[in-house]
Amino acid sequence: MYLRVFALASSAYTAAAMPGMAAMLEERQSLPTLPLSQAQGNSGPFPSLQFNAADQFVDVRPGTAHQYIAPGPNDKRGPCPGLNAAANHGFLPRSGVTTITQTVNGLGAAYSFGPEFAAALSVIAIGLTGDPTGGTWSIGGPYPPSLLGGLLSNPSGISKSHNTYESDTSPARSDAYLNGGDAVSLNITRFDKLYFSAQNYTLDILRDHNKLTHTDSIQNNPYYFSAPFAGLVPPIAHHFIVNLMSNHSADNIQGYLNRDILKTFFAVSGPDNGHVWNAGQEKIPQNWYKRPSNNPYGAAAAAADVAILAVKYPEIVQFGGNTGTPNSFVGVNPGDISGGVYNAQTLLQGNNLGCFFFQAAQQAIPSVLSGVLSNLTPFLNILNGAINPVLGILNCPALLTFDQSAFEQFPGYGYHPAKKV
Ligand code: HEM
Ligand SMILES: *[C@@H]1O[C@H](CO)[C@@H](O)[C@H](O)[C@H]1NC(C)=O
Ligand SMILES: *[C@@H]1O[C@H](CO)[C@@H](O)[C@H](O)[C@H]1NC(C)=O
Ligand SMILES: *[C@@H]1O[C@H](CO)[C@@H](O)[C@H](O)[C@H]1NC(C)=O
Repeated sequence: MYLRVFALASSAYTAAAMPGMAAMLEERQSLPTLPLSQAQGNSGPFPSLQFNAADQFVDVRPGTAHQYIAPGPNDKRGPCPGLNAAANHGFLPRSGVTTITQTVNGLGAAYSFGPEFAAALSVIAIGLTGDPTGGTWSIGGPYPPSLLGGLLSNPSGISKSHNTYESDTSPARSDAYLNGGDAVSLNITRFDKLYFSAQNYTLDILRDHNKLTHTDSIQNNPYYFSAPFAGLVPPIAHHFIVNLMSNHSADNIQGYLNRDILKTFFAVSGPDNGHVWNAGQEKIPQNWYKRPSNNPYGAAAAAADVAILAVKYPEIVQFGGNTGTPNSFVGVNPGDISGGVYNAQTLLQGNNLGCFFFQAAQQAIPSVLSGVLSNLTPFLNILNGAINPVLGILNCPALLTFDQSAFEQFPGYGYHPAKKV
């Protein structure tokens, strides 16, 4: 039932973007409906239909344009292995400071990441952590804005975006509060829990890992907090690992992800009994084939993946937090945040979680920027120009209210560690 809904909701967009896909979409609509999580291949909710070596080979050989070069001392790297690896191979500027267009093109070339999804995530990164006057954002820490005096402070970058972009319960990073404010460095214990859980990783395995990180946060982090946008970033990131890091071949059209590939993307080396994280050295493996470019991982696929997660583990996609002690989770009623557009039941249906994810960021950004920019209009036009098409793809109900007052009871909501990372 869920998959049918998503296939229909996404068909207008996919068919428009790729004429001739209608027949394939017909096929997608008859996907098996249950058991959802276990039945998924590594291409996610919309299976890949063929392997094309020329299209999917990502050439990162030494001596070529996209060879690996370790970041220099001024290059920004942060909590996202996908972005770090893309920058280390020149798919994003090696400086780690990027525009919307560079991100859309670079992540498309490196991973077949959906262009509309990349644009929306980038524009949100600019609004929450970047330079709206220059149209750039940092995949790591702070940097000087392009127009001196255009902003009141340097853009923070996604490394310093705790609970605005970066959040608790990451697949392989610690919760900021439990690690002295550092949610950027890899936590080897956490990585190993994932690593040793399988030989080949599937979406179902990553959802089980997400359940583990979620339980860990609830039981140990008095400042655990999950906001409607930022709180969904780690659950979505769990799905990115399988959908975007898997290797593809003629024998394995959906893709597979083994331990060696996982280590390479996460910059982990060493034997099984002595893993070491090499900060900033995330790599795309040699001889690696991305998902097909005619089946990009876009917003509709991500919305479907989190909805499937919500069927298996609804507790992971609740908004709210602990109230200052471990195991004190209090959920916030989505109806109170959204002015009744969503409630606890409808939020888990169809694309609604995906809708709320983008809408929450869209609604929050103007007030975030109101003290920082004198004239908001040019940037808000860019913001809405990137988000509204995604809301169309997902067929979202209009959200006119976004009330964050219920968040103030959570100490995590106001926790913004300034630790240098
Ligand atoms: C514009 C696009 C993107 C943005 C803005 C973005 C941003 C982020 C942020 C802020 C985090 C930290 C969230 C957390 O606390 O867990 C993160 C984590 C992560 N991202 Fe990305 N990301 C993007 C694209 C990608 C891509 C293309 C991939 C995969 C190829 C990827 C894979 C991951 C993974 C696996 C994590 C979790 C890391 C860990 O816990 O060790 N991301 N991303
Ligand atoms: C590292 O991860 C493990 C496993 O999830 C967790 O128990 C531990 O608290 C984390 N370390 C820190 C410093 O948060
Ligand atoms: C992992 O997947 C690869 C590719 O499909 C396969 O050759 C290998 O046998 C799998 N390994 C295990 C332990 O399942
Ligand atoms: C990806 O799959 C191809 C075909 O099986 C294989 O030759 C190649 O070594 C694999 N790449 C990685 C990084 O495992």
